[in-house]
Amino acid sequence: MRAKVLSPTFENISFAAEALHHGEIIAVPTETVYGLAGDCHSPLALARIFDSKERPTFDPLIVHVGISGKRIEDLEHLGVIDSSHLTSSQREWIEILIGKFWPGPLTLVLPKHKYLPELVTSGLPTVAVRMPRHPVMLSLLARLGKPLAAPSANRFGHISPTSAAAVVEELGERIDFILDGGECEIGVESTILNLSKPGQIEILRYGGVPIEEISAVLPTVSLIAPPGKPSDIKQDSLKPTPTAPGMLLKHYSPDSPFYLLSKRVDENLDPITVSLPEGAPVGLIVLAGDPTPAANSLNRLLNRPIVARSLSIKGDLNEAAHSLFSTLRELDSLKLGAIFSEPCLEQKGLGYAIADRLRRAAAQSDPS
Ligand code: TXA
Ligand code: MG
Repeated sequence: MRAKVLSPTFENISFAAEALHHGEIIAVPTETVYGLAGDCHSPLALARIFDSKERPTFDPLIVHVGISGKRIEDLEHLGVIDSSHLTSSQREWIEILIGKFWPGPLTLVLPKHKYLPELVTSGLPTVAVRMPRHPVMLSLLARLGKPLAAPSANRFGHISPTSAAAVVEELGERIDFILDGGECEIGVESTILNLSKPGQIEILRYGGVPIEEISAVLPTVSLIAPPGKPSDIKQDSLKPTPTAPGMLLKHYSPDSPFYLLSKRVDENLDPITVSLPEGAPVGLIVLAGDPTPAANSLNRLLNRPIVARSLSIKGDLNEAAHSLFSTLRELDSLKLGAIFSEPCLEQKGLGYAIADRLRRAAAQSDPS
């Protein structure tokens, strides 16, 4: 294995900052998922990020700022955004959102600074920016004194990593250093809002900040839902679109065939028509409660061993989000004949983000 896992000591954080300063890339912890970070103003670092992930250049990156980026003017001085054409209501909404949710799992899409390389934004006139709240990442950003571009530290289209060990599995042969910040607290990526168009806010991705919490601080603003409801996103969303670049249908995918069931597993399970390798055990993810009854029901239907996991025995959506990617990764490592998951039907809190990730993990189309 090529990558060295660094414990988050003062020396190692200083070492990581120094390496980033010289255009190296390093995997870093955030409260959502691990990121693969590089200086957002260094074309060399950016090229290394795209190359290591095998990420297509039409999929733009998120820029991460430290505590020094808390005001609109700070983001401008850091060379990230251009605030000159923002309307007064845009400014007001941005200030409210930053004040309430930064540092934290909220990404804002805003007009880009002219000195930010095109590679960060895939040629778009806007940039996605957030201030993560993981203490190790905040120390690193403070030490470095400049913003970091960081996509999730997985191979393109694969499951996002929520621990240093998961980054090793994804990129261990392709990068030199991983800064270990333990298990990610939230476990799904940030919520992304587009505030670059006057008079409206678009939700581009459901994530770590529940939409109800955003509506609560901006009660008079109507939030525009992501293009396509979960059930009606079509194949053509695989092509980059101006409104949701990089929001590819197939994403977060395990290597084993992954199928999303249309309802919870109970006694009256519908027939499963997919073809499975003879006798091979299959995996089952249930969203809440003890997984044993569901496993028994699936076993009666498929007549083979079932490896069942519950995302949250006590039925807590935050816990379910926290364990989603690690559970997918664990079941994937068992090389099962297939993995089935119950759908997430909770229309509240992190339920939207979980439903979105499951749907994309199960999409059959190829990402590239
Ligand atoms: O929680 C997170 O956001 C994690 C951690 C590492 O911070 N990062 C993350 O990055 O999820 P990534 O690269 O996996 O997802 C970034 C997504 C892109 O795929 C795209 O959908 C959206 O952010 N994005 C970036 N720039 C954009 C822009 N200018 N306009 C619209 N969407 C943008
Ligand atoms: Mg990603």
